[in-house]
Amino acid sequence: MFIGEGPGYDEDMQGLPFVGAAGQLLTKMIAAMGLDRYSEDPAKGVYIANIVKCRPQRNRNPEQGEADACLPYLRRQIELVKPEAIILLGAVPLQYLLGITGITKNRGQWLSYGDIPVMPTFHPAYILRFSNSPQLERENKLKVWDDLKKVMALLNLPLPPPRKQ
Ligand code: URA
Repeated sequence: MFIGEGPGYDEDMQGLPFVGAAGQLLTKMIAAMGLDRYSEDPAKGVYIANIVKCRPQRNRNPEQGEADACLPYLRRQIELVKPEAIILLGAVPLQYLLGITGITKNRGQWLSYGDIPVMPTFHPAYILRFSNSPQLERENKLKVWDDLKKVMALLNLPLPPPRKQ
C-alpha cells in the first residue's frame, strides 16, 4: 500500500489518486517493483491512498485539522486492505500517520504501523523537482529505488539484475 499526501488538480478532476505527473512516476516505480497498479491479482496489485481525501487549495500541504478529519477513513482503509507493507510517500504521510517529522533522515528505515512494516521514501513529486538537474534527479531516484528494493526483499519479489552503468 502506498500512501501520499492528498489529491492534486488531476486527481481531483478524475476522482482517482496519483494520476497526474507524480502519479505517472509512481506508476513506473510500481512497475519497476514487478507490480501493477491496475492489477486486481493480490500477488501483483497495490492499493494507493492519501492522507487527505480533498484537494488542499493551491496544492499546499494538508493542515493538521484536515488530516485529523480524514485519518479515521485512512485507518479503516488500512484495516480493510491489510497490506503486507506500507510505503509512505514523503514527509506529510510520515508526519500525519506516524507522528514522525523529517523524510530525509527517516527514509529507507523500517518503521511500523501496528504490526505492518512501513517504509518511508521520497514523494515522486520531489523527484520531479530535479528534472533540470540530471545528477540530483538520478541521486534521488537511486535513493528511492534503494528503499523500494527493501520492500521488494520483504515481499520476496525478485530483484531485476543491476543495470550496466
Ligand atoms: N500527490 C499525492 O500525494 N497524492 C496524489 O494523489 C497525487 C499527488
